[in-house]
Amino acid sequence: MGNYNFDTRIERRGSGCIKWDRSEEPDILPLWIADMDFAVAPEIKEALQARVAHGVFGYPKAPDDFYEPVCDWMERRFGYRPEREWFSHSPGIVAFFHFFCKGFLKPGDKVLMQMPVYHHFFGAAEKNSVEVVKNQLLIKNGRYEIDFSDFENKAKDPGVKAFFLCNPHNPGGRMWSREELQRLGRICCENNILIISDEIHCDLVYKYHGKRHIPLASVSQEIAMNSITCLAPSKTFNLAGLQTSIPLIPNPVLKARYEQMLDSFGIFRPNLFGLTALPAAYRYGEPWLEELLEYLEGNLRYLRSWMSEHLPMVKVMEPDASYLVWMDFSAIKPAGRTVHDVLLEEGWVWLEEGCEFGDGGEAFERVNIACPRATLAEGLARIQRGLEKADLIKKEEAR
Ligand SMILES: Cc1ncc(COP(=O)(O)O)c(C=O)c1O
Repeated sequence: MGNYNFDTRIERRGSGCIKWDRSEEPDILPLWIADMDFAVAPEIKEALQARVAHGVFGYPKAPDDFYEPVCDWMERRFGYRPEREWFSHSPGIVAFFHFFCKGFLKPGDKVLMQMPVYHHFFGAAEKNSVEVVKNQLLIKNGRYEIDFSDFENKAKDPGVKAFFLCNPHNPGGRMWSREELQRLGRICCENNILIISDEIHCDLVYKYHGKRHIPLASVSQEIAMNSITCLAPSKTFNLAGLQTSIPLIPNPVLKARYEQMLDSFGIFRPNLFGLTALPAAYRYGEPWLEELLEYLEGNLRYLRSWMSEHLPMVKVMEPDASYLVWMDFSAIKPAGRTVHDVLLEEGWVWLEEGCEFGDGGEAFERVNIACPRATLAEGLARIQRGLEKADLIKKEEAR
């Protein structure tokens, strides 16, 4: 028995949360968007409560040592210590991608990304008239691998100015190895392509495989100077609603350019509650995170064995990291409807639809397992029920 009870079901409906309140239908079980149904670490809540009790919420100022707990955290967990002067701020990582497209690229420029991928990567590019160049990920032995020769050919296009990397990868949960990062980094440096490495899921690493997250900036000085790393406490500590993220920009020229651009939008400082929660999280949140990771790994094991027992025709991609699990439903072929709609309409369970992640995602659904195990069990049972009701699996086959 641990110190935190992740089995507790907290009612989120009516709390102004997109995951549970978006659907008008209250009986839909939402396992889609990437936030967790768990309360934050008590130390974060206490820091916020103390801030609220103060009662004055004027313009904030980050203390000089604001980023220090993040530097300590990264040194402890990844063996890599960035300088605190390299950090900047953004209301969110999605916002960062938009700022980047506006401030560093111009309409008609091209950006390379590996498909399928988190939809705001190509969303930000498209909304800013930046062309997306796709390096399709390949599935080998049930996990994503990089097609390096395709990547290298596409990187040679002089129109490609940036590469959006997702490490660990959403939706596949893959952590890229040092060799893979070195190779990608070298190709980008040789072709003057700036790398944006989104590492928002970097702390949610499962223990079963024994691997450690490798920050792209730690791979070489040259790559560090040619990259911006997107970091945030929002996934790790479930703080997405505080809109506080911290791009890491070791290159002072790029950092000055980014901050000038923020300034041009009148964005001068982080949010007051983010300023309060972030240092509390990185200073005191580690015991909570360690227990959370064990719980998530238990959920992953549960899902894996439940799926192989009840729905063996659905292939589960084994994640190295993140509480998002990518499942291949290509063996199930509803007529005139998508699997996603069948699950929603017949099973009353809302997963994230694979096609949202672009090319290669069409046959998949992504399930968020960051919820009490009983909720996950209910979600899985609803998937089965939905497929049975639509006559897509036989009842006996599912038992
Ligand atoms: C890879 C990735 N980047 C960014 C985000 C969202 O970041 P933010 O809430 O800071 O905009 C997510 C959320 O799921 C994500 O998976």
